[in-house]
Amino acid sequence: MEEKPNEVHYGLEGVYFTDSKISKVDGINGRLYYRGYAIEDIAKYSSFEETCYLLLYGRLPKKEELDSFSKAMAAERDLPDFIMDMISKLSGREKQMHILSAALSALSAFDPETEDQSPGANMRKSIRLISKLSSIVAAIGSAALGNGYTKPSKDLSHAENFLYMLAGKKPDAGKARMLDKMLMLHAEHSSNASTFACLVSASTLSDIYLSVVAGISALKGPLHGGADENALAMLHEIGNPGNTEEYIEQALAGKKKIMGFGHRVYKTYDPRARIIKESLMEIMNSSDEDVKNVTSIALRAEKLMIDKLGKTHGIWPNVDFFSGPVYEYLGIPSGLFTPLFAASRIPGWCAHIMEYWQNNKLLRPLENYTGEIGLKFVKIEDR
Ligand SMILES: CC(C)(COP(=O)(O)OP(=O)(O)OC[C@H]1O[C@@H](n2cnc3c(N)ncnc32)[C@H](O)[C@@H]1OP(=O)(O)O)[C@@H](O)C(=O)NCCC(=O)NCCS
Repeated sequence: MEEKPNEVHYGLEGVYFTDSKISKVDGINGRLYYRGYAIEDIAKYSSFEETCYLLLYGRLPKKEELDSFSKAMAAERDLPDFIMDMISKLSGREKQMHILSAALSALSAFDPETEDQSPGANMRKSIRLISKLSSIVAAIGSAALGNGYTKPSKDLSHAENFLYMLAGKKPDAGKARMLDKMLMLHAEHSSNASTFACLVSASTLSDIYLSVVAGISALKGPLHGGADENALAMLHEIGNPGNTEEYIEQALAGKKKIMGFGHRVYKTYDPRARIIKESLMEIMNSSDEDVKNVTSIALRAEKLMIDKLGKTHGIWPNVDFFSGPVYEYLGIPSGLFTPLFAASRIPGWCAHIMEYWQNNKLLRPLENYTGEIGLKFVKIEDR
């Protein structure tokens, strides 16, 4: 019997695979909502701790709930010695995402609750993961910067503690708030490649740690979490604001993709990029000449790209375009951008894994086989 041709959705584009109440990405109107709240309000009024609560529990906390949640997060910041040993032995190899993935896998072997799949244990592990992942990333960064290990402080906010562990000194309040916003803006984004990777793993009923490790692997690529590092490298390569137009024109003529532009879902300006651009405008007044230089290149590149590809091709700035200069201003080295993205996205990953388990179904799509069948097998000695 003749088989009907299969309809293939390359890259699973346009395919819905589950229901979710965690976030809504409105790619047509350029809007993003976490649990129903607009990202603009989250960035303005919330904190990373409160955003984690919202994503994990599905509602905003009361004051005392947020206080005890923040304390629970702070209490989980310490890292076991063997993780610190591992980070210091592996540092200097410029493989931060690999170190992060290894450290998290090692941590899962250490946690007595790793195999406990009860909802309570998964919530506790989520809080642990959010806190410890941030400490691991800060420790990887401080080792790379040659700053040595600064033990986490339980008295600082999540964002403050990250900068404190990275630089070994208490951060400026304005910079800590800027990082807090960046963490919130990256905390969740529906079924992007890394979240989907987490869910593929989770759908086999693997544990939450290794499901997050699957997400970290997917995040590493330049088409996803690695884009901000590459976008900043491009801005540095342009070097001088006056070179911007020529550089971009040449890159596009050579069919190169400009990192930090384009999105599978947003066909308009990414709302997170708009908010990050506000931080960029603050930085413009900074006394650091390098940061100012890179910022003006970014603004010229943005204008040119919108003129050339925005309205005509739906290729607009995404969350990764302006992030690099902001992170650079905060003293975060570019090799740490993708690990920091993981430390920001972890509440979203955990929320999705726990939500998916409430109605678990093994994720197992089909491939349209286009190879041959029925070939005669010739034994090796006769080939
Ligand atoms: C994000 C991304 C992977 C989405 O891709 P997608 O939905 O699979 O779409 P495609 O990569 O097939 O791109 C469609 C077309 O737009 C072009 N395009 C997409 N992003 C582009 C970019 N950043 N610069 C230049 N052209 C781009 C592609 O070259 C392609 O053109 P073609 O049809 O002539 O071949 C893609 O836009 C991209 O690679 N962007 C750069 C990486 C990045 O910033 N990633 C972070 C996302 S938050």
